[in-house]
Amino acid sequence: MDSFAALALGYLLGSVPFGLILTKAFNAGDLRSIGSGNIGATNVLRTGNKGLAAATLLLDLAKGLLAVWLAWRWFPEFAGMAALGAVLGHCFPVWLKFKGGKGVATTMGVSLGLAWPLGLAYAATWLVMLAVTRISSLSGMTAALAVPVVAWATGNTELVPVLGAIALIVLVLHRANIARLRAGTEPKIGSKG
Ligand code: G3P
Repeated sequence: MDSFAALALGYLLGSVPFGLILTKAFNAGDLRSIGSGNIGATNVLRTGNKGLAAATLLLDLAKGLLAVWLAWRWFPEFAGMAALGAVLGHCFPVWLKFKGGKGVATTMGVSLGLAWPLGLAYAATWLVMLAVTRISSLSGMTAALAVPVVAWATGNTELVPVLGAIALIVLVLHRANIARLRAGTEPKIGSKG
């Protein structure tokens, strides 16, 4: 029962679509008809409002972190379920007919909550990839894939299945980005995409 409660807690927190809420609140445009149509920080950046994009990134990260942090307090054996729930909530929110984001910022938050070296590994991979390639999707996918490997390498083996599942979700949701990467048409940060 606790495992379901942790999953539901994560899902509810993760399902808050900060990108949509902020862009609507500040009349920054309709995210669904801009760029990729995604509700994440990368697409918020395409509205031209860097502050809102940064706020979306931080809040989408924070909701994942909070979900795991609360789970450590209330259901300590099932923090991994809360992490999975938060990413599922962000990617498939019931409020948006299950069409949400791609999980990048929320995965960073849950990784940090599960074990800080994992959050650090995620952030470092993401930042280095972003600096080198300037491609958000590639950076997010690489970071999501790095985290289960780092969990395994650092002895957090019990977290590998849930982090592997999260990485798989992130990859599947980026399939259109993967196709554009293969075609050489994936936009770089700063372009309108
Ligand atoms: O956070 C999602 C990012 O990895 C890709 O976003 O809008 O370029 O598909 P987008």
